[in-house]
Amino acid sequence: MKLINKGKTKDVYELEDGNYLLKFKDDVTGEDGVFDPGANTVGLTIEGAGKSGLKLTKYFFEILRERGIPTHYIGANIEEATMIVKPAKVFGNGLEAICRYRAVGSFLRRYGMYAKEGQPLDAFVEITLKDDERKDPPITEDALHMLGILSREEYRTLKELTIKISNIIKEELAKRGIELYDIKLEFGRVGENNEIALIDEISGGNMRAYKDGKYIEPLKLERLILAD
Ligand SMILES: Nc1ncnc2c1ncn2[C@@H]1O[C@H](COP(=O)(O)OP(=O)(O)O)[C@@H](O)[C@H]1O
Ligand SMILES: [Mg+2]
Repeated sequence: MKLINKGKTKDVYELEDGNYLLKFKDDVTGEDGVFDPGANTVGLTIEGAGKSGLKLTKYFFEILRERGIPTHYIGANIEEATMIVKPAKVFGNGLEAICRYRAVGSFLRRYGMYAKEGQPLDAFVEITLKDDERKDPPITEDALHMLGILSREEYRTLKELTIKISNIIKEELAKRGIELYDIKLEFGRVGENNEIALIDEISGGNMRAYKDGKYIEPLKLERLILAD
């Protein structure tokens, strides 16, 4: 097993058969000891956060597999906090696709002159560059195309998949009386055909979910969703 990438919340290894192994760590994003799914620094360590994030990730990726959505998911081992995935080539040095249902987080920080906090948004998609140094700037379709990061067709696919997947997650949460405010997804090109597929994870660490108007922390979200 060869370590190929040490991320903020997961380490990536290459297996002998060419697949990748993601090791979920107990590190979570945030600042000064306060968890924030929108942050791009490790803010704190919470015991059990890795396994908890993997449980939710496994749960959601298996739902997506049943729905025929292309993802990198192969299987998960909760005890070891590991997930086996198909290797993906990311776009440029990595992109994030955000789907927003309510105005919070960086959307509100940027557009607060016009947007009200918590204002409903209709599955509004934003693409951001994974660039910690420049604080993950949002990028337009034209810029992605011009800079050779995504073709126009790939952009369309990415946007459609983002909305489709986010709506599935939103429905799953709604079944438990939980409202999804926003979610951050990652995509890559997978296999010989470079099919665009969902990669990375789907857990409380990359979404904002609320119940009765109150934000739900990642570990609590996992317990609420997997309780039944
Ligand atoms: N199937 C995959 N193929 C290649 N890289 C992947 C795959 N799934 C996730 N990754 C990458 O694994 C890295 C580690 O995850 P993470 O700790 O969340 O990193 P980050 O610090 O970038 O958030 C990320 O760069 C992510 O893009
Ligand atoms: Mg990450």
